[in-house]
Amino acid sequence: MDPYRNPFAPGAGSRPPELAGRDSTLDAARISCGRAMMGKSARSIMLLGLRGTGKTVLLNEIGRNAEEAGLLVSRVESPEGERLARLLYPEMRKVMRALSGVEAAKSVAMRGLKGLRNFASAFNIEVAGVNIGVEAESEPGLADSGDLQYDLPDLFILIGKAAQAAGRGWLLLIDEVQYLSEADLRALIVSLHRMAQEGMPVLMVGAGLPQIARMAGEAKSYAERLFLFPAVGPLDPSSAAQAVEKPIVEEDAEIAADALAAVVERTKGYPFFLQEWASVVWNNAEGPLITLPDVEQSYAETLAILDDGFFKVRIDRLTKAEVQFVKAMANLGEGPYAMADIAKAMGRTLNSLGPARANIISKGMIYSTDHGYLDFSVPLFAEFMRRQN
Ligand SMILES: Nc1ncnc2c1ncn2[C@@H]1O[C@H](COP(=O)(O)OP(=O)(O)OP(=O)(O)O)[C@@H](O)[C@H]1O
Ligand SMILES: [Mg+2]
Repeated sequence: MDPYRNPFAPGAGSRPPELAGRDSTLDAARISCGRAMMGKSARSIMLLGLRGTGKTVLLNEIGRNAEEAGLLVSRVESPEGERLARLLYPEMRKVMRALSGVEAAKSVAMRGLKGLRNFASAFNIEVAGVNIGVEAESEPGLADSGDLQYDLPDLFILIGKAAQAAGRGWLLLIDEVQYLSEADLRALIVSLHRMAQEGMPVLMVGAGLPQIARMAGEAKSYAERLFLFPAVGPLDPSSAAQAVEKPIVEEDAEIAADALAAVVERTKGYPFFLQEWASVVWNNAEGPLITLPDVEQSYAETLAILDDGFFKVRIDRLTKAEVQFVKAMANLGEGPYAMADIAKAMGRTLNSLGPARANIISKGMIYSTDHGYLDFSVPLFAEFMRRQN
């Protein structure tokens, strides 16, 4: 069928033609934003899910909805090893500047910009060509301790007050939260806690791998009550069917019921897999009715694309020794896996595998489940590893 009209959107963060099965999370975010704007207590949200389940697209959609509702929205993605202070600085500056343009918020926002200048120097952030618009006398003691746990709440409060005065709110979106250091995550949680206590219209929606729930709890025990933790998992069968069928119908084509059922079943509802397969099927099928043979004939090509892309980029980040480790996991069958079984399969002691385990976790490839087992953070990865032999 005409590739120009192919509606599907395989790829990291690509907005799908039909964002299926996520209404309850979108509603929860809408309610939190609306309550925050009204000065009522509102919970921040952490979207938890494996690789390719649709966290980034959901985060973006939440951001769009919030903008429509009148909030200022900042988006950051935490790369491995970057400090939160540096990530947030330019975003906080943009927000303060936007708020300083509103008469009612101007004086607080200006004070916020002073605080930010202190903050930048305390955290060694170069601020080339900054012109905050006033020859502000400095204000010692404002956001300048160099300890994020004290300085970030100072700035959040000023943003919150300025937003309140301007009749706005601030939504901070942070993707890949699992890459934040524990100290940074703690500072963020402390800041959001202050916002909640003071009824400020400031919220965060974060996204990342499932281990964030435990990381947050370890950073601050009250994190559990501060956030909602919706799971962003595989789509349920009817949502998965809708994600595939609706875009096809909207392009004036059709898919046979058995063909649709095959896609839903074999992808197990994983969004990355659905988009990729549907996209390949669209290009290969004669149409306008997509049949079961069309779907089946496109399966091998889809797997090959995923193996070369989605799966391969993950494994390319591992060292040889780390690859041996994940191979041993995959050869044990489906997860979760007991560390003792992995050690046994590799003929190694538990202790000697500690460093590899920690490194692979920090690369975001595997994670430790609630019961201390290990599992892959990439869905269907065990099958991929077994195809590699
Ligand atoms: N609700 C959905 N319905 C249909 N397709 C979706 C849905 N959510 C995401 N997708 C598709 O799934 C793919 C992966 O989405 P996305 O990049 O947001 O996942 P992710 O969870 O952020 O992955 P990663 O952990 O690797 O960053 C994209 O091709 C996207 O279009
Ligand atoms: Mg993502």
